[in-house]
Amino acid sequence: MKQLQEEILRLKKEKDICILAHSYQAHEILEIADFVGDSYRLSALAQEARQQTVVMCGVRFMAETVKILSPEKTVLLAHPDAGCPMAEQLDAETVLQLKRQYPDCTVVAYINTTAELKTVCDVCVTSSSAVKIVKKLPNDKILFIPDINLGTYVQSQCEAAGVHKQFYFVRGGCPTHAKMTARDVEKAKAAHPDALLLVHPECLPEVVSQADFVGSTADIQRFAKQSDAKEFIIGTENSIAEHLQYDCPEKRFHVLSKDLICPNMKLTTLPDVRNVLLGTFGEEIRLDGEVITAARHCIDEMLRLGG
Ligand code: 13P
Ligand code: SF4
Repeated sequence: MKQLQEEILRLKKEKDICILAHSYQAHEILEIADFVGDSYRLSALAQEARQQTVVMCGVRFMAETVKILSPEKTVLLAHPDAGCPMAEQLDAETVLQLKRQYPDCTVVAYINTTAELKTVCDVCVTSSSAVKIVKKLPNDKILFIPDINLGTYVQSQCEAAGVHKQFYFVRGGCPTHAKMTARDVEKAKAAHPDALLLVHPECLPEVVSQADFVGSTADIQRFAKQSDAKEFIIGTENSIAEHLQYDCPEKRFHVLSKDLICPNMKLTTLPDVRNVLLGTFGEEIRLDGEVITAARHCIDEMLRLGG
């Protein structure tokens, strides 16, 4: 593995290619990446990379976001089959229908959506920026798509802060996080009674309501590192528990469930990354100019309000 990593490091230097990796990627991929982060950080970094070619080790909507923000760059999705099922749950036509049904709403789209869908939305959010951005929106009527769990969490945080808005949802969400139930929490807490429970807001409300901390992948990692506690149950993709265990060997990290695995995030392997750099694998993201212009508006709004 070391040899393959060295080859990747040499190739990316020779070819002047930037590798971005979402934190759900395997540890060995994070080690060869130029930048690692949650969806918000990867979006913000997309424009900063000085290289002309960017490889995204993550899922399709993340590579599309880089392309939308840097249309002049060559953006490669490391594994062509790595999609996010949530991003496929709604299409632009359905959102246009919803807009006719709720004409007074600001349409807030989770970034886990296709570029095409973003063309008909008002603002994007990520799990780390959603509460902050929705609180700042002047409109008190919000159509939140597609993740009903994240939307419900944002609503509860707005209410708790005295920001009263009317929310409308559609029934979408992450199939991986939504698999977790109160029963999983009960079992994990029984097995590790002294551990703090840290969860992603894509989980069901019955899971989120029992958490000691709720946040994005990056927020969860920051919280665990800064906390004085020694033991944690990690309620997001299991790679985060593994990364934390590398970073904090003196603490203990347990997974909420062995089923908390995103199969799409797990598709990309080190040999795939090497082959992308050699030009024999991966997919170049190509988006219509009009889609880029129309979709960019809601990502720019996200970066403006969330920055
Ligand atoms: P983050 O914004 O926390 O990185 O979430 C990305 C994601 O796909 C979670 O399932
Ligand atoms: Fe999509 Fe869920 Fe995988 Fe994140 S964990 S990429 S939301 S399927």
